Amino acid sequence: MVNVAILGFGTVGSGVAEVLTGHEGSIERKAGGLIRLKYILDVRDFPDSPFADRFVKDFAVIESDPEVDIVVETIGGASIALEFTRRALEAGKSVVTSNKELVATCGYELTQLAREKGVCYLFEASVGGGIPIIRPLSQCLAANEILEIYGILNGTTNYILTRMIRAGLTFDAALAEAQEKGYAERDPSADVDGHDACRKICILADIAFGRHISPDQVPTQGITGVTLADVDYAESAGKKIKLLGRAIRGEDGRVCAYVAPHLVDQSDPLAGVEDVFNAISVRGDAIGDVMFYGRGAGKLPTASAVVADVIDVARNMGHRKALSWEPGGPDAACGTDGLKSRWYVRAEAAADELRARLPGCKLLARRESGGGEAACLTEEELTRGQMEERLAGLNLRSALRVLD
Ligand code: HSE
Repeated sequence: MVNVAILGFGTVGSGVAEVLTGHEGSIERKAGGLIRLKYILDVRDFPDSPFADRFVKDFAVIESDPEVDIVVETIGGASIALEFTRRALEAGKSVVTSNKELVATCGYELTQLAREKGVCYLFEASVGGGIPIIRPLSQCLAANEILEIYGILNGTTNYILTRMIRAGLTFDAALAEAQEKGYAERDPSADVDGHDACRKICILADIAFGRHISPDQVPTQGITGVTLADVDYAESAGKKIKLLGRAIRGEDGRVCAYVAPHLVDQSDPLAGVEDVFNAISVRGDAIGDVMFYGRGAGKLPTASAVVADVIDVARNMGHRKALSWEPGGPDAACGTDGLKSRWYVRAEAAADELRARLPGCKLLARRESGGGEAACLTEEELTRGQMEERLAGLNLRSALRVLD
């Protein structure tokens, strides 16, 4: 029998308890033995919970119980979760988590610690919720040199953009709706400012390219600056605006990773990814392009990935199964200064002025004319610096990369 303790009985933690106990029979068969939920750690009381007898408030109870084999960390954040994860690994327990902030910032340290202690640190649920992506990337695609990963990594912002595009809601109205539906937090900044997608692209880049990429090495732009004017102009060009996380392997081995809204062609499969769904595209030198699609957030989809990791650890008890990568450093990432792309630009200018500065550009029209402004798609691929130099002196209202 394998004993599990869950840290944090929030949305994901309670989903893990539900799935672990609800599917006990089939999980036992797949794990090759019974998996018992022994403890749940939370500072709050849950007297009416069917698991009421398993709650503890002191982590030391779990840490010092030699029967506990696997600790599921669903606390979130990178402070107390870091302390408990370190202590659990030090105590020789495997840890499974959905905590992307902790994996993105401290994943190198924690995978090393797991290695030293001969236990596992697994985090399938940290990217893409229920979508299998960490294991496919590290195992099924292991024969490939990964060239690029990009995708819609945040469900909340995808919901907001979908509502702006489909229902013509402003950003503020779409955000309020996302909050009403429980997708966006009361403080939505981690999602709308792109930090959540940034953490996820860091984790994918660590695994795909083999070195730690820190969130502070990843230029990150969210969707707060996207307006209905941009949505309309994009539509007139046959494109949709999507927030993408992207990591590209440079020729010198450095990784160009960033998060930003992009114009995506309506024929691209990413354009059809709507509402809170996520999709991640991976390009390998042998396989070409593969895409992973599904529910990127939510209680049961995320619990599905966490419990799969628990089963994996239980099935392989006594065998270390640690993902690992090399430490990072300033030479691991190269920023986006040299990255060329076509651009969508909207500026306070006459159409002729834009055409003169960006020869060959495609001027865009929208249903409502935007007073004193024009928008276009550049024909040439330019770095951001080159694009800004061409438009120097103009009031640039929006500049987004085009995904080609
Ligand atoms: N806030 C995240 C999202 C939750 O909206 O995608 C899943 O990581």
